[in-house]
Amino acid sequence: MKDLLTIDQLGSDGINEIMIVADSFAEVCQRPIPKVPALRGKTIASMFFEDSTRTRTSFETAAKRLSADVLNFSASSSSVNKGESLRDTVETIEAMGVDAIVVRHGSSGAPEQISRWASASVINGGDGWHAHPTQALLDVYTIREEGRSFEGLRIAIVGDIAHSRVARSNIEAFGLLGAEVTLVAPPTLLPPYVDVLGAKVSNDLDAVLGETDVLYLLRMQHERMDQALVPSLGEYHRAFGLTRERAKRLSSTALIMHPGPMNRGIEISPEVIDDPRVRVLNQVTNGVIVRMAVLYLVIGSASAERAAS
Ligand code: CP
Repeated sequence: MKDLLTIDQLGSDGINEIMIVADSFAEVCQRPIPKVPALRGKTIASMFFEDSTRTRTSFETAAKRLSADVLNFSASSSSVNKGESLRDTVETIEAMGVDAIVVRHGSSGAPEQISRWASASVINGGDGWHAHPTQALLDVYTIREEGRSFEGLRIAIVGDIAHSRVARSNIEAFGLLGAEVTLVAPPTLLPPYVDVLGAKVSNDLDAVLGETDVLYLLRMQHERMDQALVPSLGEYHRAFGLTRERAKRLSSTALIMHPGPMNRGIEISPEVIDDPRVRVLNQVTNGVIVRMAVLYLVIGSASAERAAS
């Protein structure tokens, strides 16, 4: 695994291997000094061409906990604004001597393209509508740490499936592990190829709620919409938002998850955010642990590959 670009390249064995390594880093993160020398001497470039809070900072925290150096590149204050191409930008950063590049880009396929140009490892931190593999891995870790088995687990992914790279990666990861995934959205927020995603589809959240073990809410991605796909945000909330009344009808053992950032009052009512079933901050905590495992495995295997060649 020189690069981590998608979930399907991992398969269930690869996901489970990352979970086991993440368990050992969870223990490291509990220590008074949560740091190990596993990646001392390695440099990780964080290249974000699109906004991020969670992914960027948790990769940076993960790298520092592994004693790696972090080279931060921010597109908004870079020579990209002077017209420098993606390839020239990546090759410039790589020429400074980096072992891995974590990339977020608004264009689907950009990390894969970068992996062809770069000899450093490339980790996809989210590309366009395509994939967000480390989000899916941290979500798997969060469900797994609750002691839930994925075999037959009923997971409803609710909201803007059409524009969601998180939905695509999570459908793959949950499906590979044996979960029963249902996509819940109005028809305008489902992609045209929804039939090939391997999940059930419903347009009625109320019909699905009582048969849900994990309710996974997605953000309405206004920035990726070029037309009004719902009559109004208020109407969306009434039909597909997690309101107090819907939360009451959800099983007492169900988990409520959201990748963030949340639109309070749209996907979820503000009064539900403090519900004890909500795992949003656990997801953030686990993001560091899982990204430590990914950096360790990707950089370790790329070094082994180079040593063997
Ligand atoms: N979940 C997620 O990718 O959040 P950020 O956009 O803040 O990284």
